[in-house]
Amino acid sequence: MILDGKKAAAELREELKKKIIELKSTYNTVPGLTVILIGEDPPSKIYVRNKEKFAIEVGINSQVIKYPEDVKEEVVLNKIKELNSDNKVSGILVQLPLPKHIDKRKVIETIDPVKDVDGFHPVNVGNLSSGYDSSIPCTPLGCYLLIKKIEKNLNGKHAVIIGRSNLNGKPMTQLLLKENCTVTITHSKTKDLKAECNRADIIIAAVGRPKLIKGDWVKKGAIVIDVGINKTDSGLVGDVDFDEVSKVAKAITPVPGGVGPMTIACLLSNTIECFRKNKSRLSS
Ligand code: GUN
Repeated sequence: MILDGKKAAAELREELKKKIIELKSTYNTVPGLTVILIGEDPPSKIYVRNKEKFAIEVGINSQVIKYPEDVKEEVVLNKIKELNSDNKVSGILVQLPLPKHIDKRKVIETIDPVKDVDGFHPVNVGNLSSGYDSSIPCTPLGCYLLIKKIEKNLNGKHAVIIGRSNLNGKPMTQLLLKENCTVTITHSKTKDLKAECNRADIIIAAVGRPKLIKGDWVKKGAIVIDVGINKTDSGLVGDVDFDEVSKVAKAITPVPGGVGPMTIACLLSNTIECFRKNKSRLSS
């Protein structure tokens, strides 16, 4: 079975549209998302354009602030502080990667945790790992929602995550632990990746190596989520060899059209959650 992320994301956006109409009738205002884009990285420009397009589609007040590659770090930090105190802005996202002269950690830590739609601020990272309410990073949240479409009860399932990034691998671990999965996180120094994958009921691949995961790496009936987006001579491919693995997996996400659209839909959902948190903070 192919896990159609495009369709799942379109369904989620329909739900979000309704929520925004309700929020508008309650508060007479809609959630606002501000994205900061620095430099000319081509994939980042495409991601940001898509984020803006879908934000507008669901009724979010979308704003993109662009800076040249050589913008001073101080200018960006001051802009974030200004957005933190702007009541029209519910969520702030600074598109990564950043130019080398800008300190990613400083940027992330300057964003008000209540407006951190990415869930990258240490307060949100800590809350997620402690099992408290938090913003959840959009990519793992999208993967999680796709897995739950296939399997409601994940109790005792063995999940193998390939890649230990802050963006995906680590928060994915927290989400699956909360669902009572047994989680193995693998990475570039893992001794026998194939053997680890062979034990998995669920595989989440986010390594950035085209078609690394082959058919004989996957147990029959496993769920396979492919986070990879690799540009090759034959077009965009994931970290999973789709033709081989789709023959053994119970469910698999395609690339493109799998995790990508869900990531953006989850960003919009997080923006609505941030709007609610901002409102309850302002009224308390
Ligand atoms: N660059 C690639 N993915 C992401 C993401 O989820 N958030 C941000 N801020 N930048 C990214």
